[in-house]
Amino acid sequence: MTMIEHPTIDIIAGARPNFMKIAPIIGAIESSQARGGRLQYRLIHTGQHYDAKMSGDFFTQLGIPAPHVNLEVGSGTQAEQTSAIMTRYEKLLIEKRSDLCLVVGDVTSTMACAIAAQKLCVQVAHVEGGIRSGDWTMPEEINRMVTDAITNLFFTTSEVANGNLRRTGVTDDRIFFVGNTMIDTLLANMSRLQQPTFWEELGLVEKRYLVLTLHRPNNVDGENTLAAMLRAVGDGARGMPVVFPVHPRTAKTLQSIANLSSNFHFVDPQPYLEFNYLVKHAKAVITDSGGITEETTVMGVPCMTLRNSTERPETVTMGTNELLGTDPAALAPALDRLFAGDWKRGAIPPLWDGKTGARIVEVLEKLFAR
Ligand code: UD1
Repeated sequence: MTMIEHPTIDIIAGARPNFMKIAPIIGAIESSQARGGRLQYRLIHTGQHYDAKMSGDFFTQLGIPAPHVNLEVGSGTQAEQTSAIMTRYEKLLIEKRSDLCLVVGDVTSTMACAIAAQKLCVQVAHVEGGIRSGDWTMPEEINRMVTDAITNLFFTTSEVANGNLRRTGVTDDRIFFVGNTMIDTLLANMSRLQQPTFWEELGLVEKRYLVLTLHRPNNVDGENTLAAMLRAVGDGARGMPVVFPVHPRTAKTLQSIANLSSNFHFVDPQPYLEFNYLVKHAKAVITDSGGITEETTVMGVPCMTLRNSTERPETVTMGTNELLGTDPAALAPALDRLFAGDWKRGAIPPLWDGKTGARIVEVLEKLFAR
């Protein structure tokens, strides 16, 4: 490994679930600099998410500094976004090279920047490397596989991830089991969570409402599929309010669905502190997200996942999450168990302890900084 006087790391963020993962890494680099550490970073926002509600609010609430560069790629198909990010990031690297490209998670920006960097022989580090759902119909799974195939350093969240990497031939000297940066952010902000302004207006009471989030193309792009899921949630909720922060992709389909039960409350995508306040005090969360299943596990909130697979199996084997599949009929018996008080309690996975950002920076200092 080449040691560099003032190594510069590109930190890549593009879409909503990236922002809570980069915040603790940036915080740890800045703490290290204050102690004389030599790592420098350049924060690059690809612009994959650009609305204040999907992006800017997270920077403000989590104290993430303004990006040094915004590639401003905006919306598009998978290939359009991938190619725009690659083209613009490649140009940036040619103009001003960095020593390492650090990507997080599994979004299009993660894969696109990893490819552009590695082709210019800039090493790649992947935070949350090694996780797999096995479901190739999800763009995120393709992003994970491609990214990990060309990653030099893996920062992992679980032993399962380590095993997945070893099975593809990755040697142990490239795997760093450090824990979960998303949980660093959650623990750091637990005492700052904010009640949403609509709390009183909707008459919400702790543990007497459900939170719903849906945004996977398979669940929300078809009107009939989405309508059937919403009816099953409405029917099983026993009149409890269902708070549904609606992702922009879901909003498009939702416009054409009528006659939903009156206990649904559709709200805008929530900022970080408000969203996790809602989750923390909910009776349960119903979701097709991956990251939310980690947060519910740490907060001990029952979670039902409307997917057939998960890349985060520890949320099921150790945590409060259950995979219900995508058949809406699975919701009724699961909600029966919830309301009967019969949901598992769960435990917190190893190293999900709030110190992951610091562990990552310690490794980077050792490997790169003189
Ligand atoms: C992306 C990620 C997914 C992540 C999700 C969280 C990929 C492949 N998927 O999916 O892993 O869980 O973000 O939100 O990277 N849009 C807006 N405003 C925005 C951003 C998007 O209106 O700020 C619209 C787009 O125009 C598009 C839709 O939302 O119609 C979907 O956006 P896109 O970035 O394609 O993917 P997501 O479904 O958000």
